[in-house]
Amino acid sequence: MSGKKAKIELEGKTYELPTFEGSEGEKAVDISSLRNQSGYITYDNGYGNTGSTKSSITFLDGEKGILRYRGYNIDELCEKASFLEVAYLLINKALPTKTQLDAFEKNIKEHTMINEDYKHYFDVWPRSAHPMGILASAISGLAAFYDDCLNPNDQKQAHIATIRLLAKMPTFAAYAYKKSMGQPFIYPKNKLGYCGNFLNMMYSCPTDEYKVDPDMERALNQLLIIHADHEQNCSTSAVKVIGSSQANLFAAVAGGINALWGPLHGGANQAVLEMLEEIHVNGGDVTKYVARAKDKNDSFKLMGFGHRVYKNFDPRATIIKRSCDIILNKMGIHDPLLDIAKKLEEIALKDSYFIEKKLYPNVDFYSGIIYKAMGFPVNMFTVLFSLGRLPGWIAQWKEMIEDPESKIARPRQIYTGEKQRNIVPIMER
Ligand code: ACO
Repeated sequence: MSGKKAKIELEGKTYELPTFEGSEGEKAVDISSLRNQSGYITYDNGYGNTGSTKSSITFLDGEKGILRYRGYNIDELCEKASFLEVAYLLINKALPTKTQLDAFEKNIKEHTMINEDYKHYFDVWPRSAHPMGILASAISGLAAFYDDCLNPNDQKQAHIATIRLLAKMPTFAAYAYKKSMGQPFIYPKNKLGYCGNFLNMMYSCPTDEYKVDPDMERALNQLLIIHADHEQNCSTSAVKVIGSSQANLFAAVAGGINALWGPLHGGANQAVLEMLEEIHVNGGDVTKYVARAKDKNDSFKLMGFGHRVYKNFDPRATIIKRSCDIILNKMGIHDPLLDIAKKLEEIALKDSYFIEKKLYPNVDFYSGIIYKAMGFPVNMFTVLFSLGRLPGWIAQWKEMIEDPESKIARPRQIYTGEKQRNIVPIMER
């Protein structure tokens, strides 16, 4: 607590509320005693002004476009670290030594296969099933296969659940893709790295030799790091709300996957590509779509623009845009959708509507274009986001579980419905 008090006056009475500051100077008023003292709750639609927790994992400053995991800038992590190093950092609070990283990687490799019985699970899905639905159910089902690691308060169990999730999620994701293609599942290859193994399970076929392209592997590593955590976003909050009931980690992460699926959150990368394709098919007139996005009577939004927190630029979008150019150049791909995306960005950034509302391209604006260049089908984009976000979900869940002050998440409401009334017999209604 900072010692400074906030004063709130209600119905002629003044209430004093404690305030405190975070390590980067963010300020908060602790309103937790307000209802008991005054009978009032605070109302904050969409939680835009509500801090649900204290956290030492990720710092972001939406005005300055800063994103740091455990104090390290996202640019530096993307340049110098592997995804598993970042996962270790998020979950264990410090970058690993070489020995620690080797042990972590080995541990994960020992769990990459899924139980053979689990393969039948994929048989029940239609070919057209969205892989996010398949992935969420598969992760939820892990609780049935591994009931030896469901107690969130047992550190050893939480650790093994963490390793199983990190190890098996890429296998589930690749199997969901193979199922949609009608191709045989490819077993994990532990001599490959985390990203290389995933690419191999996605694209290898028993009929042909598949060699992991190091540029693709590097790009995927960077994309996963960029998505690895983003403090109390929608899906992470979903994971924590579920976990706050002491439900097991698999159940909590399955909830996070479902929350991420929505087009206003992780599903936006799919929505962006579909929007760019629509603009392309309809002649590429970007201005028409910018006008639609500004029209109050049109529900159309420029997908990939705007963010609840970033009001200047999204540092992840800057990194992705750079690597998008590199990958497309290296692969010799000319994608008209990238031209449309660049035009859209240029026009929107000069437009007073977008400037006044502080709407800038977010992480999803360019990620779909790279994913497409890497051969991922559109409905796998959000699955890739899930693979990236997994360590963040786990780290945030772990921080909550280990915090002795944690409570079950249970917001209040202001009831606006009918007052008490009596049932009118059915024939008289
Ligand atoms: N296109 C056009 N107008 C927009 C857009 C957009 N993409 N985003 C916001 N606006 C407008 C809103 O209509 C609103 O206008 P108003 O003040 O006249 O009512 C104003 O800008 C503020 O927007 P809100 O929706 O109130 O902002 P909020 O913080 O609630 O929403 C969100 C943020 C959901 C990301 C929103 O900007 C959006 O829907 N963007 C498109 C979807 C998207 O790209 N989502 C991915 C986010 S990144 C991520 O989750 C990984």
